[in-house]
Amino acid sequence: MDITLSFELDNIDWNKIAEIFERAPLGTRDPQKLARAAVNSGLVCFAKDGDEFIGFARAITDWEFQGAIYDLCILPEYQSHGLGKKIMNAMLEKLKPVNVILYAVPGKEGFYKKLGFKPMLTAMGRFKTETEMIEKGYLEGDR
Ligand SMILES: CC(C)(COP(=O)(O)OP(=O)(O)OC[C@H]1O[C@@H](n2cnc3c(N)ncnc32)[C@H](O)[C@@H]1OP(=O)(O)O)[C@@H](O)C(=O)NCCC(=O)NCCS
Repeated sequence: MDITLSFELDNIDWNKIAEIFERAPLGTRDPQKLARAAVNSGLVCFAKDGDEFIGFARAITDWEFQGAIYDLCILPEYQSHGLGKKIMNAMLEKLKPVNVILYAVPGKEGFYKKLGFKPMLTAMGRFKTETEMIEKGYLEGDR
C-alpha cells in the first residue's frame, strides 16, 4: 500500500469519489454536485492508494473563526487501519486557526471522541429532509 493524502482539486475523478460514498457507505451522491460542493468548501482531502482514490473528506470554513467537517468516508477495505484518523488529523492541522464542529453518523461518535470532539449541548439543525434525519437518528422528533 502506498497511501497519500492530497488537498488539491486538480484531476479528481468525481465518479470514483461518489463510489466511495456509496460503498463506505455514506449515501448516494451526484458526482457533479460533489465537484461543485468541493469547490465551494474551503478544504478538501483526498486519500489515495497509488493512483486510486480510497477516501475523502471536506470542510466548510472561513479560515478565521469557524469550520465544519463533512463527508468523511473511506472504502470498506481500507477502514479500521487508522486512515480515518490520519485524514482527520491532517484536516484538523489545517483547520488549527478555527473552531471545528461536525455531526457524527449515529454510532460513529466514539471515533470523533478519540480525536478530542465533545458532544455539544446546544447544537441544532434545520434540515431539508427532516423526517429522514429523524428516522436515521440524527434529530429528535417533535415532542
Ligand atoms: C468512520 C470512518 C471514517 C472511520 O475511519 P477508519 O479508518 O475506519 O477509522 P480508524 O481506523 O482511523 O479509527 C481510529 C480510531 O477510532 C476508533 N473507532 C473507529 N470507529 C469507531 C466507532 N464507530 N466507535 C468508536 N471508536 C471507533 C478505532 O478503533 C481507532 O481507535 P484507536 O486509535 O484507539 O486504535 C470509516 O469507518 C468510514 O468511512 N465509515 C463509513 C462512512 C462514515 O460513517 N463516515 C463517518 C461520517 S460522520
